[in-house]
Amino acid sequence: MKRVFSIASLPLVSLLLVGLPLTAQAEETFSDAQLEVMAGGCASCHGTDGRLASSVPSIAGRPAEVLTSRLLDFKHEQVDEVTVMDRIAKGFTDAELEALARHFAAIDLETDNELEE
Ligand code: HEC
Repeated sequence: MKRVFSIASLPLVSLLLVGLPLTAQAEETFSDAQLEVMAGGCASCHGTDGRLASSVPSIAGRPAEVLTSRLLDFKHEQVDEVTVMDRIAKGFTDAELEALARHFAAIDLETDNELEE
């Protein structure tokens, strides 16, 4: 069945994400499998590989430092105009947020630039 993006599902998705038991502690490196699980939840709003550009900002291919600082700001309530990312960011350790930022920054927008959803 084709999944239709619906704003009404946002609170549910974020609740599920925050409740997700992440066992990885403050490690600096994460396996591809771990990252796939962590980043998979982001896709429901940010699109496959974080490429979606809509009211939800595109995160793929943006500099890792920018993404990291945005995520840490969300987590530590430094962003005023926030709807969901504060709650989502709180579900991850700082090291996990940095790993997620590097993961999305490493996605090359020039190649395979098709939305798959
Ligand atoms: C429930 C939908 C949803 C999910 C799931 C979600 N995001 Fe977001 N994200 C948003 C929205 C909406 C914004 C805009 C800020 C806001 O309103 O919270 C945003 C903003 C961001 C930004 C800042 C981009 C910018 O240009 O300022 C980053 C980075 C980000 N998200 C990363 C992630 C990562 C990494 C994950 C997975 C851990 C994730 N998001 C999961 C909806 C979501």
